[in-house]
Amino acid sequence: MTTARLHLGQTLSFDGSPFEDGLGAVRHDRHGALLVQDGHIAAIGPAETLKAAHPQADRVDHGTALIVPGLIDAHAHYPQTRIIASWGKRLIDWLNSYTFPEEMRFGDPAYAAEVASAYLDLLLANGTTSVCSYCTIHPASVDALFDAAAARNMRVFAGKTCMDRNAPDGLRDTVQSAHDDSLALLERWHGRGRAGYVITPRFSPTSTPEQLEALGALWAAHPDCLMQTHLSEQTDEIAWVRDLFPEARDYLDTYEQHGLLGARGLYGHAIHLEPRERDWLRETGAALVHCPTSNTFIGSGLFDMDGLMAEGQRVALATDTGGGSSFSMLRTMAAAYEIGQLRGRALHAAELLWLGTQGSARALHAADRIGNLAPGLEADFTVLDLASTPAIAQRSARAGDIWEALFATIMLGDDRAIAATYVAGARAAPA
Ligand code: GUN
Ligand code: ZN
Repeated sequence: MTTARLHLGQTLSFDGSPFEDGLGAVRHDRHGALLVQDGHIAAIGPAETLKAAHPQADRVDHGTALIVPGLIDAHAHYPQTRIIASWGKRLIDWLNSYTFPEEMRFGDPAYAAEVASAYLDLLLANGTTSVCSYCTIHPASVDALFDAAAARNMRVFAGKTCMDRNAPDGLRDTVQSAHDDSLALLERWHGRGRAGYVITPRFSPTSTPEQLEALGALWAAHPDCLMQTHLSEQTDEIAWVRDLFPEARDYLDTYEQHGLLGARGLYGHAIHLEPRERDWLRETGAALVHCPTSNTFIGSGLFDMDGLMAEGQRVALATDTGGGSSFSMLRTMAAAYEIGQLRGRALHAAELLWLGTQGSARALHAADRIGNLAPGLEADFTVLDLASTPAIAQRSARAGDIWEALFATIMLGDDRAIAATYVAGARAAPA
């Protein structure tokens, strides 16, 4: 047993979903405390109560900063770290011009290791404690990310991206190698430390039906793994899928027919959905991953958060680095707010924070471990400075309540708002 440590500050945690239960689902303590022991949360409550109950505990006083669950990015491509903010293309041209040439470099394990380490350090600096990332077709790119995550003790989900067509020479696998390499990686990493393996067909255009079938069979044989892919991001992409799969009823059907639709499935973007697709995604309990900075940056469209939430869909929030234009989940929440506004629904600060913590944790089937501040959960948490820049400080000085102050940091904040990031109870950033 390590010595217990008591973190003092404002605390914010969830008893439920603000989308379902409003602000009654959120617990805020202006003088709160979080008791951490052996990498887990032992207690959360009013500072005076926990100080009296645990007089021996070490104390870390975060002042007026706000302690929130560690931010969780439910969809990213770590190999695109160095091509983020590439100009002027829409999805298919963007993939061919920027993404595929960069992903080719990950055939070099040393390059993969270098980017993986730098990427996870960027996440920690931005208050993100967990990510679900695509790697490249190269198995060593998966080892690189899981090794870098283990070195930081981060709970990371990732998988080998599979593509056996419509990708350049040197960036394609085969039906057999995609299956066998994914299986070997899954056996090496799934459940090792904090690693979770994710079966990862990139999207229907870059997999033959035979490859989708082989990965569906792999998922059926390992149903406790997550599966991630892309769905209905741009209209040109959907038209291409229609040409490539003339028998399919719609885009989702190209996955469904090959065993790639399920409750542990994560479907990135999901913007231009048909009614049948919405029904089946909801019925199966699959998760839709909203990637707002990517959707505006690549010009994809406006995710229907309000309608999908009202239908009872499972929704997570993500950067989609490097189609997304930021590593920061605060910037991502701000973009989700703006897309909501364009669709006529102002998301509340509590809803935005919930999406980037609990929403993502639930989608990743990891809410029993991460995504909240509650006894028994792993002690991944982020400390937000609610006055991190002069612009934010002058706005939050006017704030009437915690929500106004938090909203100012969501809309105006970035990595400067991250006073500290803790992973499994240990301070991980700033270094
Ligand atoms: N669809 C298929 N691959 C990708 C990718 O790397 N990024 C985005 N945004 N969409 C994709
Ligand atoms: Zn993506």
